[in-house]
Amino acid sequence: MQKNTFSRREFILTSGSSAIAAAIIGPMMVNVAAAKSKSVPMKPISLDLKDPGNAALTKVGGALKILDPGDKKRPIIVTRISETACAAFSSRCTHLGCEVSLPTNDVITCKCHKSKFDMSGKVTHGPAKKNLKTFTTTMEGAIITIREQLS
Ligand code: FES
Repeated sequence: MQKNTFSRREFILTSGSSAIAAAIIGPMMVNVAAAKSKSVPMKPISLDLKDPGNAALTKVGGALKILDPGDKKRPIIVTRISETACAAFSSRCTHLGCEVSLPTNDVITCKCHKSKFDMSGKVTHGPAKKNLKTFTTTMEGAIITIREQLS
């Protein structure tokens, strides 16, 4: 049987290198994780119903897909749910992240695995288990304002 010979010098060199590596890499890993978790805060979005581009929202049951001007990778679906209210929610499916479609007959479907959501973004049929991420909406006259919800 071979005896494990690990000199004091080898031990200090090895453990010292590991400590230095941990001291350098550890904070870098934390910074990468923090950077990934940060997202650009959304500025409020205003939609004017007098604008022909927003005509779909002038009727109850209408819907429109818009891009967050601050983050074009974050499409938002806006639906007209009543004469006096709209809903807005992320188009990113809560199952595995596919982009959901605009509603057909008041049903929003994810083409990937057929999850279904209502006009307010609430899941009605899995496999998704969570509602679509919603935004706060207000309607004042012809102006709809969409804001990120504070949690
Ligand atoms: S990603 Fe939408 S149902 Fe799977």
